[in-house]
Amino acid sequence: MYDILHDAALRAHRYLDGLNTRPVCPAPGAVAALRELDVPLPPEARDPAETLALLDTAVSPATMAMAGPRFFGFVIGGALPVTVAANWLAAAWDQNAALYEVTPGASHLEEVALRWLIDLLGLPPATGAGFVSGATVANFTALAAARRSVLANVGWNVEADGLFGAPPITVVTGAEAHPTLLKSLGMLGLGRSRIVRVPVDGQGRMRPEALPKLTAPAILCLQAGNVNTGAFDPFKPLIEIAHASGAWVHIDGAFGLWARAAPLARHLADGLEQADSWATDAHKWLNVPYDSGIAFSRDAHALRAAMAITADYLPTDSPHRNPSDFTPELSRRARGVEVWAALHSLGKAGLAELLERNCRQAKRFAQGLSGAGYRILNEVVLNQVLVAFGDAERTRSVIAALQREGTCWCGATVWQGQTAMRISVSSWATTDADVERTLDAMLRVAG
Ligand SMILES: Cc1ncc(COP(=O)(O)O)c(C=O)c1O
Repeated sequence: MYDILHDAALRAHRYLDGLNTRPVCPAPGAVAALRELDVPLPPEARDPAETLALLDTAVSPATMAMAGPRFFGFVIGGALPVTVAANWLAAAWDQNAALYEVTPGASHLEEVALRWLIDLLGLPPATGAGFVSGATVANFTALAAARRSVLANVGWNVEADGLFGAPPITVVTGAEAHPTLLKSLGMLGLGRSRIVRVPVDGQGRMRPEALPKLTAPAILCLQAGNVNTGAFDPFKPLIEIAHASGAWVHIDGAFGLWARAAPLARHLADGLEQADSWATDAHKWLNVPYDSGIAFSRDAHALRAAMAITADYLPTDSPHRNPSDFTPELSRRARGVEVWAALHSLGKAGLAELLERNCRQAKRFAQGLSGAGYRILNEVVLNQVLVAFGDAERTRSVIAALQREGTCWCGATVWQGQTAMRISVSSWATTDADVERTLDAMLRVAG
């Protein structure tokens, strides 16, 4: 046991140590070599050390350096060292974090982490929450509470009776809602195509004057942090209108919810605390390992009613909080451990520094690129930058060349008809020197 874990630690250390000097994108040869893994299932057992060695030699070179300092794709940070270490320890514990009576340590830690999160994000103190696999499932989970609540208000029990014959729910989102939010709504039987999409402005913010009349039962889905621009919907006026009509307001804050923990960005999310439910990712801006998202519901009872189960063989009756009462899964890993470790280690000040540094670095990217004559397509309010290097074809060719060059990795997008490169700054590991080195590479390649 000791030898293989020690070997894994050495290999992981060597891998992480090499991230600063290797190209961010894996070499095509390393990706092609993955074919060597395509062998029949071994008929006999073998030395586990051999298995680990193959994993490292064949797969490590074929990974994208997402844990490194110059990966700027998809708004996903790298994992903080303390969270990787906590993840290893939690893997050694091998806890099934479903029920308090069976896994008191992991369950207790999650309760502490949730209390800290609710305080940090300024959510109502009685908010209920669950640790899920990411924002897609966090949206799904919180919206299950929404579905339950708005239907219960008109006398329908959706958990018992399903949606057949239920009063129709009006579901409203912005035109720039993340596609996974639509998927979550679809998985809840609310239909991807029947959603009412509200027009947005040039940054992707919902226009309050375009909000249709809401009649209960209704759910309004807002967004904290557009995946392209980083923009926030104007929460105060929208939530006021929605609540006056008895609608439930949900906010997808996959990365933008963390702005609440950054004094310099907090104003962007003013009024967010008035909503009824929220979803976020910890594997994005809190920089913990995948997979880690959190669903919050102001009405903890509604979330529990949508998610809890009982079974004669399970000790579900408990004076304590059972983690699985608040998540779609029964069995799952104790992913709250890494959230706890990140919060405990960073503290409020450390997290604010990380978030504000990334915002400042995004502004520096925008300034450096616009100074060189390239067009920035968004107002850089958070950690997202959209840059066009010319027309669509030229922008795409610069992105491809930059990915091949290897200093950094950024992806492409089309923002309201214009092709752009997305720069998402969300990693604890990104220093100001990394930003300057990346800017140099961008300007060299684009030039
Ligand atoms: C606003 C928003 N919502 C939802 C998601 C989906 O998150 P996940 O991939 O963690 O499920 C993302 C991912 O980038 C996002 O930006």
